[in-house]
Amino acid sequence: MSIIIDTDPGIDDAIAILYALNHPEQEVTAMTTVAGNIGLSVTTRNAGRICALAQVDVPVHAGAAAPLGKEANPELGIHGTDGLGGVVFPEPLSPPAGTDGVGAMAAALMAHPPQSVDLFCLGPLTNLALLLDRAPEAAKRIRRVIAMGGAVKEPGNVGPKAEFNIAHDPHAAAAVFVAGLPLTLIPLDATRQLRADRSYIKALRETGAVAAIASADLIDAYFAATNGAESRPLHDPCVPLLAQHPELFRMEAHDLSVDLETGALVAGEHTIKVAMGVNVQGARAALLHGLSF
Ligand code: BDR
Ligand code: CA
Repeated sequence: MSIIIDTDPGIDDAIAILYALNHPEQEVTAMTTVAGNIGLSVTTRNAGRICALAQVDVPVHAGAAAPLGKEANPELGIHGTDGLGGVVFPEPLSPPAGTDGVGAMAAALMAHPPQSVDLFCLGPLTNLALLLDRAPEAAKRIRRVIAMGGAVKEPGNVGPKAEFNIAHDPHAAAAVFVAGLPLTLIPLDATRQLRADRSYIKALRETGAVAAIASADLIDAYFAATNGAESRPLHDPCVPLLAQHPELFRMEAHDLSVDLETGALVAGEHTIKVAMGVNVQGARAALLHGLSF
């Protein structure tokens, strides 16, 4: 399975990427970056640093520096000013492969047979919305989009109903919903269930594996940013986990739209496959295993 990862690393993005890079059946052909948790130059550098830790030289292309029609609004409180909670990562093995992330997505899709590439979206959907606008023929070749974002029945995390990735660029999310792509959405309803606590950090460290230890450090940093929490949600790792272990997720179809003012998901006319629950024990074990070699 070939994959393009579109991301704004980001503590939980980093864990998701390490898991995806570690998986022998997932060939990550390109990574594209977007402004989200932090600005574009930092997310781009971080994507390269995460690849360097995993000792793979995946081409990283910088994508959109700002959401469609508004200013970026980074999440410094949780992910820190370096986007990775101050955890030490090596420098990228290569400089960024380019500054046209959307063009790189299109090129990768055209270079592979139709319906053979999955797109994992771990941040705001700006790059995908731009791809739909600029290269619709390439977008049609995507096998499936798996995106972390939104809150269906759960409260939001940046507003009463709004989740960060959708609310950061609601116009992009709306464009993606309208497009009728084979989209699977993983909202907070599922991702808040998959949590890391202190015992999970310990289990990660005990594997002795580089990716698992880095993930433990990242989750430690996540704890440091949220005083008093007993566990932290692992949002973005749900994306590669769902790709590898669909049986662990409870899927429902929901008719949804995006409220462009608040970035909340509201009842609407686009029927979307939504992960509303996760087998927590199974997903925690699969993530631990995937990071442990
Ligand atoms: C999402 O927002 C970001 O802060 C995380 O990386 C995740 O993609 C969760 O709402
Ligand atoms: Ca993210």
